[in-house]
Amino acid sequence: MVVNGLARRTPLIAGNWKMNLDHLQAIAFVQKLAWNLKDAGHDFTAVEVAVFPPFTDLRSVQTLISADKLDLAFGAQDVSAQESGAFTGEISGAFLAKLECQYVIIGHSERRTLHNETDEQVSAKIAAALKHNLVPIICVGETAADLELHGPSAVPVAQLRAALANVSNAADIVVAYEPVWAIGSGQAATPEQAEQVAAQLRAVLQETLGQDVADKTRILYGGSVKSGNIAAYMREPNVDGALVGGASLDIAEFSSIVRFQKHVGR
Ligand code: PGA
Repeated sequence: MVVNGLARRTPLIAGNWKMNLDHLQAIAFVQKLAWNLKDAGHDFTAVEVAVFPPFTDLRSVQTLISADKLDLAFGAQDVSAQESGAFTGEISGAFLAKLECQYVIIGHSERRTLHNETDEQVSAKIAAALKHNLVPIICVGETAADLELHGPSAVPVAQLRAALANVSNAADIVVAYEPVWAIGSGQAATPEQAEQVAAQLRAVLQETLGQDVADKTRILYGGSVKSGNIAAYMREPNVDGALVGGASLDIAEFSSIVRFQKHVGR
């Protein structure tokens, strides 16, 4: 669809479960979430919904979604940069593709902080994902200290530039702006800040991958997103959805975030 000369991007609401819900809980959760959204008359073509369970749940979630033909997308929370071999504990992009994952979250701040993931590793993981036609959700964001020293955009912009080092302009990618200080803190960024950084990230996409990619790529905001604040983010022209952590584990709350269009004319 073209609005005001711009191709409108389909919003994506992505639920990052982190290390929560085992495979049996995942089956019950996904089933209830799908019913809940269907009962509410959710139009899945207007707002895409994706869940990101732990690796051990993926096979169960895939089986359920394909057997019941649910309109939910799913993906993994990380991927190895390696293809196969002696990498104990790692999961390859080939395995995720075989499980019909559409997406994979890469460079989440918890991976960067707790597992010392570098920009180079993030970039290599993105290449591994793209090789298997998985859409990487590339996470970038500044810490509270970065914010104080450099303002909101400098670090996310530098992280995105580094992440795109191996990406071609034909690639299907998603970018998630997640200020580290806003994750799990209840202290969300203002919609104005999310928009300001998202606009700069889109400029990086345009410079590095061209106008078409900049126009079609969805940029999500993440960090303490709730049903009460989602509408304000979605009113911003450069914010195309949300990466939701804590609130994605509550079916009613997550459904309400997905149905943000009740609150905004978008
Ligand atoms: P939060 O987490 O919604 O709990 O702040 C977001 C994320 O880590 O992706």
